[in-house]
Amino acid sequence: MKIEKFSDYEALSNHVAEALIATLQENPSAVICMPTGNSPRRTFELFVSKVKERSIDLSNFFFIGLDEWVGVPSELRGSCAYEFRSLLFEPLGIEDHQFHLFDGTSLDLEGECEMMDAVIQEHGGIDFMVVGIGMNGHIGFNEPGVEFDRYAHIVPLDETTITVGQQYFDQPMKLEYGITLGFNHLLNAQTVYLIANGQKKAEVVKRAAEGPVDSSFPASIMQRHMNGVIAVDAEAASGLSN
Ligand code: PGA
Repeated sequence: MKIEKFSDYEALSNHVAEALIATLQENPSAVICMPTGNSPRRTFELFVSKVKERSIDLSNFFFIGLDEWVGVPSELRGSCAYEFRSLLFEPLGIEDHQFHLFDGTSLDLEGECEMMDAVIQEHGGIDFMVVGIGMNGHIGFNEPGVEFDRYAHIVPLDETTITVGQQYFDQPMKLEYGITLGFNHLLNAQTVYLIANGQKKAEVVKRAAEGPVDSSFPASIMQRHMNGVIAVDAEAASGLSN
């Protein structure tokens, strides 16, 4: 794992957008996995504008959504599916057969997990994965105490995630469980970027990069990834020792 520091959020987002494009230019059928939330928002915007400006052909790439809130319909603003649609699929005209997302309203959530694992396997694994980091050290919905050795799975949400998660919705939401890729997917991905910006992420970035690798702080898993990058702006980097 390495750490890449950028002057600000814009520079960080620009770098990740360029890295995504470089991956797709090298391998037009690359499998890309992205999160939702505040951290990747500018990366999505820059990626979309660069793809349009440079007329990059995305007709062969495949997209995987990192996670979803259980019980939240995909049409609702704040669901991960809504974010992927409005930030990526609609602006770029990505067709339905080019992505796979968890359905958080499925009555067979175990089946959703099995389907996700099968789809990733059929596509030959994830080439480029971007993840954020929660205020409790989660990645996706891999909450503190998660088993590292998991594929897609369903997780009871931590209090921090339930509280922080309200910001994404227009009205108070009952959030209890998440459905998420597991750390086997993360460790098997060719390249993984964990992105974080802002002063409030300084402490969690420090623990992810420099703390013990332990499931009590899930993002410490990044230290085990050969091609893992923790990419941060100056504020999020401010707690790091060097
Ligand atoms: P954020 O969420 O990017 O909105 O800070 C990160 C996360 O909880 O994974």
